[in-house]
Amino acid sequence: MNRLICIFFGLIFITGCSVKSAQEKDKFVEGQDITTDNGMVVSAHPQSSRIGVSILQKDGNAVDAAVATEFALAVCYPEAGNIGGGGFMLIRTSDGKTDVIDYREKAPIHASRDMYLDKSGNVSEGLSTETHLASGVPGTVDGMIIAHSKYGKLPFKDVIQPAIDLAEKGFPVTRRQAEDFNSNRKSFLVRNSFRPAFVKDSLWKEGDILIQSALAETLKRIRDQGREGFYSGMTARLMIREMNRGNGIISEQDLKEYRSVSRIPLTADYKGFRIITVAPPSSGGIILIQLLKMTDPYPLSEWGFNSSKTIHLMVEAERRAFADRSEYLGDPEFVKIPVNQLVSKKYLIDRMSTFDEKRASFSQEIRPGSPEGYTSEETTHYSVVDAGGNAVAATTTLNNTFGNSIVVDSAGFLLNNQMDDFSVKPGFPNMYGLVGGEANSVQPGKRMLSSMTPVIVEKEGKLLLVLGSPGGSTIPTTVFQVIVNVLDFGMSIAQAVDAGRFHHQWLPDWISYEKHAIDSVSLEKLRDIGHILKERPSIGSVNAIMILPGGKKAGGADKRSNNSSCGY
Ligand code: DON
Repeated sequence: MNRLICIFFGLIFITGCSVKSAQEKDKFVEGQDITTDNGMVVSAHPQSSRIGVSILQKDGNAVDAAVATEFALAVCYPEAGNIGGGGFMLIRTSDGKTDVIDYREKAPIHASRDMYLDKSGNVSEGLSTETHLASGVPGTVDGMIIAHSKYGKLPFKDVIQPAIDLAEKGFPVTRRQAEDFNSNRKSFLVRNSFRPAFVKDSLWKEGDILIQSALAETLKRIRDQGREGFYSGMTARLMIREMNRGNGIISEQDLKEYRSVSRIPLTADYKGFRIITVAPPSSGGIILIQLLKMTDPYPLSEWGFNSSKTIHLMVEAERRAFADRSEYLGDPEFVKIPVNQLVSKKYLIDRMSTFDEKRASFSQEIRPGSPEGYTSEETTHYSVVDAGGNAVAATTTLNNTFGNSIVVDSAGFLLNNQMDDFSVKPGFPNMYGLVGGEANSVQPGKRMLSSMTPVIVEKEGKLLLVLGSPGGSTIPTTVFQVIVNVLDFGMSIAQAVDAGRFHHQWLPDWISYEKHAIDSVSLEKLRDIGHILKERPSIGSVNAIMILPGGKKAGGADKRSNNSSCGY
């Protein structure tokens, strides 16, 4: 009898404990700037951040959570989250090992150098941005499968399932999303032969539920068949049918042959910190390292945050880095990039030898057709750190907001318009005003040059920062400023992310800046020494995590949009 009583109370105790710990584990906090003890996900939408954290709470690691977040973003953030696009995932495991999964799109086999030019050799407007020809071969699904197979702990089906549920059951759209869907309504209707889920009879408003049944079915095929569920079989057939409808050139062979690539990260030391980032085919890492090394010899903290002296120096470095980008950078499998020379201290000191503290230098003449002001662009970055200290910084994109706005009929996902990131004609600016030449010309099977810059920063061999941003050409300069804000100006991660930003990219030859980023005295000083300055809407949208002394994680979700930090 005594034994039975013991077992009875023992069972109550055990059950009580497990119920309690499950509840404890399910608890999470969310907001834009939060601090947590265990894991954290900072991404562009509350739904994707929550899904990422739920995977951490099921004992998934940072890569499991990142893969779950990426698939969730494809559902709840179709502006940029995707399975029809690509990106870069930077991984640092808790023992300090690093890896980059490059799942950047590739030019289709039938692509050619002058495919966006008319008979007279002029660029045909919209061809590389608004049509089926704008799409590169999507890389995201392969990238997620590779990342998961190398580092994941939970079964793949468990990390993709929350995205499937989200697509099937739907979720309430944010105010900003309702606006995005409404303002893109015409493109959705004109560029598709059916009515995609993003178009309703009436206009969208905050809180309306978006259900994506066709996308759920595509995700189920990926869950059940892995890469074959996307790159062959039904999904591939639907993509090819879509291509045929719109004179696109992505072929069965393109899909079959697409592979993401594992690359060695680029690293550099900056004021005692270790910067870890991505190598080409993104230009972002090289630009970031060039910027840090070109400005390293100057006393930024003495000159102060966004003072005219600081801005002048940073902008002159940016001008030089972007000039190099246009000449040297492209897909390393097609062009020989002098990476070591470009980031060498000697070269960069020499590059800054023409820097004059009292005068702005001149970029080449401004080319015609440079975009002025704001174009609707969207990419998305998410950062993940798990309780064990593994970290992921990943940036993913369709290029424009909603890519080319073309949804694969019956497969429910948007196609990218990443081909515009190639230099479609030497010297002709792309949608971000970036110019390039031969190194980034269109060639079959080549990856288009990117600016995406996921970054991890270490202090004394330990994880300190995980960050990245959308923003096209402004990505490396945005990330540069956030890093400098923390490392040189001693800001908290929330302050560093919120602080006003500016940007220069060599051509066009002006500094763009956010309202209130530069005070009127500094603006005048910069104009006096020869800079052209143009105010523009917000620059970048950083999602960052900082590890505080003692190990707590602080989230910095950029308030410039609906980003969300979630952790436990
Ligand atoms: O890879 C790139 O550099 C661009 N396609 C990124 C586009 C982007 O960031 C748009 N975002 N706001």
